[in-house]
Amino acid sequence: MKTLTKILLFMAITGCFSTLSAQENFRVWPYLQYPDTDAMSIIWFSESALLGRVEYRELGTDLFLGVESNPELAESLAYSSWEDTTFFEGEAPSAPYKHRIRLESLMAGTTYEYRVIQGTETFYSSFCTAPDGNDSIRFIVYGDCETEPESTGNYTSWPDPVTGVSRKYLIDQTTGYRNNLEVIRSRHSDLVLIAGDLTQHGGEQRDWDEFWRHNTDSSGSTTLAGQVPVITAPGNHDYYEGNYLDGYNQPGSESAIRRYLTYFESPANHSPNKEQEGRYYHLRYGQVSIISLDLCNNGSNGSDEDTNFYLLGESDIGGGNAPDFGIGSVQYNWLESQLKEAQEKSIFTFVMFHHIPYSSGPHGFPVGEGDLLDNQSGVPTRLLTPLFLMYGVDAVFCGHDEMWERSEISGQEVLEDGTQVNYTLPFFDVGTGGDGLRGPVEGTDNIFQQFLVHTDAPEKWEGDYLIEGGKHYGHLEVEIIPVNEHTHKAILTPVYVFPIYSEEDSAYTGFERREYNDQLILSRTIADTTVGKEVLEKISMATRSYPNPFYTQTLIEYHLQESGNTKVSIWDDQGRLIRILVDRFCVAGSHSLLWEGEDGEGNRVSPGLYLYRIETESGAILWGRMICLDF
Ligand SMILES: [Fe+2]
Repeated sequence: MKTLTKILLFMAITGCFSTLSAQENFRVWPYLQYPDTDAMSIIWFSESALLGRVEYRELGTDLFLGVESNPELAESLAYSSWEDTTFFEGEAPSAPYKHRIRLESLMAGTTYEYRVIQGTETFYSSFCTAPDGNDSIRFIVYGDCETEPESTGNYTSWPDPVTGVSRKYLIDQTTGYRNNLEVIRSRHSDLVLIAGDLTQHGGEQRDWDEFWRHNTDSSGSTTLAGQVPVITAPGNHDYYEGNYLDGYNQPGSESAIRRYLTYFESPANHSPNKEQEGRYYHLRYGQVSIISLDLCNNGSNGSDEDTNFYLLGESDIGGGNAPDFGIGSVQYNWLESQLKEAQEKSIFTFVMFHHIPYSSGPHGFPVGEGDLLDNQSGVPTRLLTPLFLMYGVDAVFCGHDEMWERSEISGQEVLEDGTQVNYTLPFFDVGTGGDGLRGPVEGTDNIFQQFLVHTDAPEKWEGDYLIEGGKHYGHLEVEIIPVNEHTHKAILTPVYVFPIYSEEDSAYTGFERREYNDQLILSRTIADTTVGKEVLEKISMATRSYPNPFYTQTLIEYHLQESGNTKVSIWDDQGRLIRILVDRFCVAGSHSLLWEGEDGEGNRVSPGLYLYRIETESGAILWGRMICLDF
């Protein structure tokens, strides 16, 4: 009866608003924020102050729970007067209302269906809470999408790696970003990370409108941010006041970053300056720590420790609240405490911020004025590298130079017992989300460079058409896999979205997911109190299934490092063999198998827990868990 009551209540709520106009509906479709083992935030924006409602239930159960929203006017998201005049002929929409509901008392690693009712519209989707055990995790990281309406029809410069001549890229920025997001969505990751410069101008509301047009959708099956929490770090463009005003002046930069802070929610950093909440934070997700920093400004304006000459931050006269990051600053001290905690509690620690410290691009020059001395240099952020090494950070994700470049710094981690171990820390510039595709700049000398797409992925043309290689929009895919109770692997795969030329359309209308030949595999072994790392060790496979739990079918994905005979089988929770899906030679690379919940004789299996087992020729065996639901 309780379930029926809830469903009837749901129908009554949706029905009673049926006569309302579109004025009462969504401005920004719902999206997920701040994932935890027992909680998830759902945020959306509406045109009016009308109450909204979230209803949710664990997948496979009947009981819906409902929570009403408390809309608040989001004044920080109002269009500026110059936007109103320039783009809306004085009739820009008024500021929207923000709805934020934090669902709590959820179960870890569990899929929930949810629906959001706002006015006459209802949005349906699902999410998964963070795991509290050793489940595998997949997340994707990119930077520098720099959205704005003007990206449509705007083709970025695409330097020829052989001649150095600047060319026009094959597709425009909007198409590039849209294709990139479509590939990301198809990977069913647990998180999406963006390493700054989300918008072209953080102070332009139109640029944020464009960001959410790409990342949310009215359909739960095609939304990205409505299925996967988006985790962000602020970049210099997010502090940028706007195209028609004075760049990084105050209070313009504060009003720009206020838009960013209104949209995103993160764990508290407990800064004594409340205005700095949300600018940097530490998110724990399963066995992973993600520490996101705001390194957009430091020290006195114009000093050689400053990443932005024109942004007035917390230590500048007349400055805003952009936090310093130098030794002794609040953010630095907080960072050290969080790195220490992460070293103790998490198997992998990843740090994300915008300004790449090691780069062969235009921001790889030391700080300073003049042709070769950048006023938005990433070099000052190198002062944090000793901390990253000391506390054993596993990888650093940045953007800013839009290069796709991997650099490595060698050092020593100091373990909790004082022991020092050698290891190598990779830094990634993953800033090829959807804006620039730069080449190296003459005069920078990045001696730490290990991989640069510009030179390490040569283009191959057939006649007038590119068929292989080259620098493209893309992202880094990170897979965390428990190999056994002591060892975990992190597989970092650089992915690019290759444009496919269509003779029928006489244009690059297609695209496909491809991988650069620079996969990095980190291994962390926990044995008693000793933590060690091996870098670039080969792994035999990586795997997961989706959806999980499932009703009618699930896709088992696995990656083979080496070719060989491979056997994939299904077992029940009593250890009985249910079916052999594959037992044959398989080439190295990614594979997927559909299991339609049937045994070897074609009979539907009973609902419950099932295991899949992947066995390679080398003898490596990996098990995965799946839950088959009744339908
Ligand atoms: Fe940037």
